Parts: sequence; C-alpha cells; structure tokens
Amino acid sequence: MRTKVVIIGSGPSGLLLGQILTRAGVSNVIIDRVGKEYILGRVRAGVLEEGLVKLLENAGVADRLHKEGLPHDGFSLAFDGRDHRIDLFDLTGGQRVMVYGQTEVTHDLMDARERDGSLTIYDAENVQPHDFSGKKSYVTYQKDGVTHRIDCDFIAGCDGFHGVSRKAVPQGAIREYERVYPFGWLGILAEVPPVNHELIYANHPRGFALCSMRSNTRSRYYVQCPLDDKIEDWSDDRFWDEIRRRLPAHHAEAMKTAPSFEKSIAPLRSFVAEPMRFGSLFLAGDAAHIVPPTGAKGLNLAASDVHYLSQGLIEYYNEGSQAGLDAYSGRALDRVWKAVRFSWWMTTMMHRFPDTGDFGQKIQEAELDYLVHSRAAATSLAENYVGLPY
Ligand code: APR
Ligand code: PHB
Repeated sequence: MRTKVVIIGSGPSGLLLGQILTRAGVSNVIIDRVGKEYILGRVRAGVLEEGLVKLLENAGVADRLHKEGLPHDGFSLAFDGRDHRIDLFDLTGGQRVMVYGQTEVTHDLMDARERDGSLTIYDAENVQPHDFSGKKSYVTYQKDGVTHRIDCDFIAGCDGFHGVSRKAVPQGAIREYERVYPFGWLGILAEVPPVNHELIYANHPRGFALCSMRSNTRSRYYVQCPLDDKIEDWSDDRFWDEIRRRLPAHHAEAMKTAPSFEKSIAPLRSFVAEPMRFGSLFLAGDAAHIVPPTGAKGLNLAASDVHYLSQGLIEYYNEGSQAGLDAYSGRALDRVWKAVRFSWWMTTMMHRFPDTGDFGQKIQEAELDYLVHSRAAATSLAENYVGLPY
C-alpha cells in the first residue's frame, strides 16, 4: 500500500491531522495499536481554547461541540475560604473557553473520518517507522499474524508519550527535558450537577482540588493525592469528604454526591522533546510533550502542533514548498514552551509541595494574593488560560 502521510496514533492529534489532510486532498492512513472502544474509554481533560474550536470548525467537526459544549467566561480560584473569580472574558477583551470532553472531540473526529472513508487500522501490533532520514519512508505493522508495509512521503508520530515514534529516533538526535511532580491527581466522574457553573481551582492546606464538569448533569472532580496512593485507598465516601474539606464552605454545603463511575490516579509531569522533526518523521502532541493538567493545556497544545504540521504538509503538496515543514519544529516548540511554563507555574501556585517550607508557603500565598488584586497579573493568567495565539 502507498499513501502520502502515515499517521501513527489515533488519539486527538492523529485524528485531527488526518481530518485536516483528508479535507485538503492529502491521502493519509492512521494506524493505532489499540481499538476504537479502548481509545474512547480514556477519560481526559475537557477545556478547549478558541484556537482549537476554530480548527474543529474549519475541519467540519464542530456541530455537536456547538450544541453540547459549555462556553465559560471565567473560573474561580478558591483559597482562604473564598472564591476569587478570574473573568476571562473581561480580561482578554472577549475571549472564552469551551468545556467539552476530549472523549467527545475524539468521537466527533472518528465519526467524520468514517464518513469521509479514510482508512484507520486499529489493533495493529509492532508498528514501526522506517527510513525517515532518507526519501523512502515506510511503516510496518502486524495484524492477525501478517506483516504489512505502507510506503509514504511523510510519517506523523501522533502516538502519545509511550509511543514508538519518539523512541525510533537515534538518541544523539533528540534532547529531552523533564520535571516530575511529587504528587498525583485522583479524579472521579459522577452523574451529579456541577457544584458551580464555572470551574473551581482550589488551593487548600490539605492540597489542591478541582471541580470541573462534562455537562450540566455530569461532574469531573479531582483532589491532589500522594503518588503512592492506590485507588483501593479511596472509597467514594473518602473522596467526597476530602474534596468538600478543600473547598469554601458554601460549595462544600452545596456539593451533590453520587457513586462515581470512573476513578483513576494520574501522575503529573512536564516533558519536552526537541526537535519535533527528524527527516520525514514529525512528532505532534503527547509524543513530543506532556504538561501537568493544571490549566488543561495538553489537548490544546496537540491542536497547535497539528495546525502547524498540517499547514506545512498542505503547502508542500499544493505549492511544492518545504518552507512550512522546515519551520514546523521551531514554530511548534515556541508555543509548546510557553504552555509548559504556564502549566508548571499554575501547578506550582495551586498545589501543596511536600518540601515547600514556611518561606515557600508564604511566597505562594503572596503570589495568589497578588494575582487576584492586580489586573496586570490576572490578565497574564487569563491570556494564557484562553490560549496564546497561533
Ligand atoms: N503504535 C501505534 N499506536 C500507538 C502506539 C504504538 N506503538 N503507542 C501509542 N499509540 C496510540 C495510542 O493507542 C493512542 O490512541 O497513539 C495514540 C496517542 O493518543 P494520545 O495519548 O491521546 O495522544 P495525542 O493524540 O497526542 O493527544 C494529546 O491527549 O493525553 C492527552 O493531555 C493529552 O490532551 C492531550 C491529548
Ligand atoms: C477536566 O475537566 O478534566 C479538567 C479541567 C481543567 C483542568 C484539568 C482537567 O485544568
């Protein structure tokens, strides 16, 4: 088989890239090592920047998003027992974010791909990119005991942090930067109306808490927890008790509870691999970088990568120009590092670290106080939260 672009990974990065390329007439095949149901079973964040909303509109996959998504004009920073509202709309001159689960974005993209008839190969074993430093790139994989080969011009490594694409690059050609945080997030989904119509990010002496949502009837809540905690340590009752203790009293009293139907613990990490291009292999999304979820930048960064990469590929096929492809890694990384900085900063400001000490604690309190009393400081938070331009 031959195609122009083989996309490894059928998460939001791979699917969005495939969708934009298909619409521009650039043939592509997506290969994933797992199946559709497994991919749709993963629970991830759900705050979309306007840049991503526009990309989805242009890619023809925003109808349900506009029907079911919840536009948010602000959020609450809760500390010292009260809410401090960050008015995104006012501070950014009219920008907002859209609350819509990543799973739903993935679903919409999969449906569009099926309608368009572009090929996705699920449950492929031993996917491997080959010869990306030369001009005869190809990807191999096994399915049902048979080895297959797809020849292509370019390979897009959209296969997440644990994927094969980044690992296929010779060690000396790649540099990795990493910070691992000394805590995790325990998250639950429950069929209860959200405690507040906007998100609440809470800093409390017992640790961070986040009240988010998937709809007007479904809540997504998190608490900071030690990294070695196990899910079995956290009964639903313990979770509800703990999150209530970390919120201002009026929210704690208003919070509705119900049995959780999903519960998981995720570690927090910042990670960047540079560069994001190796010959005809391009990395995008989690394959190239990871951010901690504070600020919800993961999916949005995947989107800006895909924007730059799709532009470069379309320019190559339409105009015969390599310029966009040559600029890809630099353009993507400029934006990646700013979001990595923002996510690191918000994580540092909102969590309790085991080794902070009295001095560090006072600095954190001063930072929060400054943020909610200085329009300049709040504007900086707001413009990063709604997303830097691309
Ligand atoms: N071969 C083929 N496919 C693979 C391989 C492999 N060796 N390894 C991983 N994959 C697939 C995974 O099964 C997954 O479906 O690649 C896909 C990667 O998807 P994601 O992990 O969702 O990464 P990405 O599409 O870049 O999405 C970024 O997801 O993790 C969040 O915070 C992140 O929101 C951000 C978004
Ligand atoms: C979520 O809804 O899961 C969510 C929202 C905001 C974040 C992180 C996660 O910063």
